[in-house]
Amino acid sequence: MLTTTVRSARPEDAERIVALVNKVAEEDRSLGVDHFPLTADAQAQFAASADPLIHLMLVAFDGDDLAGYLYASRGTTESLVHVSSMAIVVDKSRRRQGVGQALIAAMRNWAQVVGVRKLTLSVLATNTPGRALFERSGYEVESVRRGQYSIDGQDVDELLMACWIGAGGSSDA
Ligand SMILES: CC(C)(COP(=O)(O)OP(=O)(O)OC[C@H]1O[C@@H](n2cnc3c(N)ncnc32)[C@H](O)[C@@H]1OP(=O)(O)O)[C@@H](O)C(=O)NCCC(=O)NCCS
Repeated sequence: MLTTTVRSARPEDAERIVALVNKVAEEDRSLGVDHFPLTADAQAQFAASADPLIHLMLVAFDGDDLAGYLYASRGTTESLVHVSSMAIVVDKSRRRQGVGQALIAAMRNWAQVVGVRKLTLSVLATNTPGRALFERSGYEVESVRRGQYSIDGQDVDELLMACWIGAGGSSDA
């Protein structure tokens, strides 16, 4: 049975995080990214210095093995500080065992502690596992960007999804 431990990422996790995200990006075209945006050194520096009120880096371990990674960040202006966005990957060999849900639950705890009220994310319309996880976690589609991605010569819609913590939402002018 999978025993998942979720904790904040440390500088020494950097190489494994970069390797996991790059592996998933290569395996899974519906992720929508080609590779992790930072080198392992830059990720280690980021983990050591990022403001935890703004940035959240979570790792999920199964024993000594990195099973999943979630990155979230919130707005830094007064008008956007209540909003965060996130991205998540789980190792292919560890899927459908609750790792994604455990990472999202930990992110929600962080959001409540720091005062984020609106959780957002972007997911490709073709990403069935991602959409299922997010819908199950309370996210709803807010808008669609038609053909925002071109994957292997096919235009693919991007869904912008959101989940409110507590009361919130728009007010008509
Ligand atoms: C999307 C992803 C993070 C899900 O992680 P996971 O650890 O497998 O998710 P969980 O085990 O916590 O799944 C929780 C629930 O989500 C839904 N779900 C997850 N994967 C699913 C799938 N392939 N098909 C249908 N429903 C799925 C189910 O309701 C599942 O509960 P259940 O297993 O009891 O039925 C993982 O598939 C992944 O890393 N995909 C590639 C990266 C990616 O697409 N990231 C999202 C874009 S930011």
